[in-house]
Amino acid sequence: DTAEVLARIRSASVVPVLVVDDVQAAAPLAEALAESRLHCVEVTLRTEAGLRVLRRLADRPELLAGAGTVLEPQQVDQAVQAGARFVVSPGLDPVVVERCLELGVPVLPGVATAGEVLRARRFGLPAAKFFPAEQSGGVPALRAFASAIPDIAFMPTGGIGQDNAAAYLDEPSVLGVGGSWMAPRDLLARRAWDRIRTLCAQAAQLAAT
Ligand code: 3PG
Repeated sequence: DTAEVLARIRSASVVPVLVVDDVQAAAPLAEALAESRLHCVEVTLRTEAGLRVLRRLADRPELLAGAGTVLEPQQVDQAVQAGARFVVSPGLDPVVVERCLELGVPVLPGVATAGEVLRARRFGLPAAKFFPAEQSGGVPALRAFASAIPDIAFMPTGGIGQDNAAAYLDEPSVLGVGGSWMAPRDLLARRAWDRIRTLCAQAAQLAAT
């Protein structure tokens, strides 16, 4: 399953990171994502509605939904029960990683130093989230990790937008980039679906090139 999930992230190239406050947003959001072919999404569990939104997006056969901001091992169980196909965490917490391995759900823990990349590698993980990417040295830092530690792929996230995503996607070590720019929390709260659809379509263009 890990290989399949990673292949789908690779084919999507861009993974929207969603912070959704209102469960009613799930249906129009799912439509905007599917229409633009952004078929992998990370639903963060940092809002009260997060788990319910995750469940609704996971119910859509055209989407591959993962859980983000997973900080506690119990959240891994909740996420898997809600249908999450992968788990993302802002940092590398061995307790969270171990729970994911026990349940057999692919996990991308956050890494921002070579030591953390090595810890992810020691767990046998094929990929990790480079977070926060821009703030942690951006593409040059990523290149340095990749040249020293070649057998792990990265999903850079944090500070990435329409203008700098391509620079990451050009890197062979990059599986796909994550970010909230195509469906930011404030636009979701305002139900600005036309704007979100436009931003999603633009983000999907990055994948096509
Ligand atoms: C995350 O949790 O991955 C970040 O909130 C996404 O970062 P961004 O908002 O800078 O895209």
